[in-house]
Amino acid sequence: MARLSAFSLSKKYNLPAGVRAMNVLSQDFPPKSHLPGHVHLIGAGPGDPELLTRRALRLMIEADVVVYDRLVSPEIMALIPAHIRRIDVGKLPKAHKVPQDGINAMLIDLARQGLRVARVKGGDPLIFGRGSEEAEACRAVGIACDYTPGITSAQGAACSTGVPLTHRGLATGVRYVTGHRARDGALDLDWASLASGDTTLVVYMGVANIAEISGKLIAHGLAAETPVLAVASATTPRETRVLSDLAGIAAAVADAQPEAPVLFIIGRVVSLYEPALLAAALACEGAGMAAYA
Ligand SMILES: C[S@@+](CC[C@H](N)C(=O)[O-])C[C@H]1O[C@@H](n2cnc3c(N)ncnc32)[C@H](O)[C@@H]1O
Repeated sequence: MARLSAFSLSKKYNLPAGVRAMNVLSQDFPPKSHLPGHVHLIGAGPGDPELLTRRALRLMIEADVVVYDRLVSPEIMALIPAHIRRIDVGKLPKAHKVPQDGINAMLIDLARQGLRVARVKGGDPLIFGRGSEEAEACRAVGIACDYTPGITSAQGAACSTGVPLTHRGLATGVRYVTGHRARDGALDLDWASLASGDTTLVVYMGVANIAEISGKLIAHGLAAETPVLAVASATTPRETRVLSDLAGIAAAVADAQPEAPVLFIIGRVVSLYEPALLAAALACEGAGMAAYA
């Protein structure tokens, strides 16, 4: 492979400045043309490396190149041996986004060089992860692709906060919804259906729109006193939580300014949140990383 400058790489994949692609592609890879390339779409879980699956870890350390985004925690990235090339296609909220097309093209290019590509995503690759779009793009040009599930952040946050997502008598089900508004569009959710006191709602990517989300849920009949827990950087030593109710969550979050990533657990199950008991339970040896937050 010819050496590419950081500039030509950025141009080729339409990457914004600051995306550290040079680290990887400017190096000459050993020729592997005798092997077919392969893309593994891997979920890295919510942050705590102990929540990685064994398969995820194996595929990452056997890879020729790791393509990762900002939700993959530094603790997990530290497990990847230094000799393995890595490309950061991180997307910062509100910052210039790496276009999805550029990422797709990069994965295809790398696989066409005969490389084993570990495409590592936070949480699960198939829950608000665009993993299936990347798989479609690869398969459309004959690149083999497979998935490795990860613990989605909702489940990581549930366990690190001790708030169950379902609980007999409090919630008969759980729904994962996006709180992200498509560019200039309205939040296109079925509010009447979501405003049910019987199920737990977990809102991903909702921090910028929490005032609108909570307002719409109240307007469609969900009690303003419904408890809400915002969880930031769940399962990592940086985990923080903001407890409020539907009427107060937007102001509470504006006040606390939790650092991304943040999700919201909305529903009666949040009444089971007991920070004092949790701290005691987590203070034992072997507790997760969030215990030390
Ligand atoms: C693009 S979605 C990716 C979700 C991911 N595929 C998953 O399964 O968790 C990004 C959103 O996931 C949530 N998220 C991811 N990791 C998180 C964490 N460790 N703590 C809290 N929320 C997290 C946040 O709502 C964030 O805005």
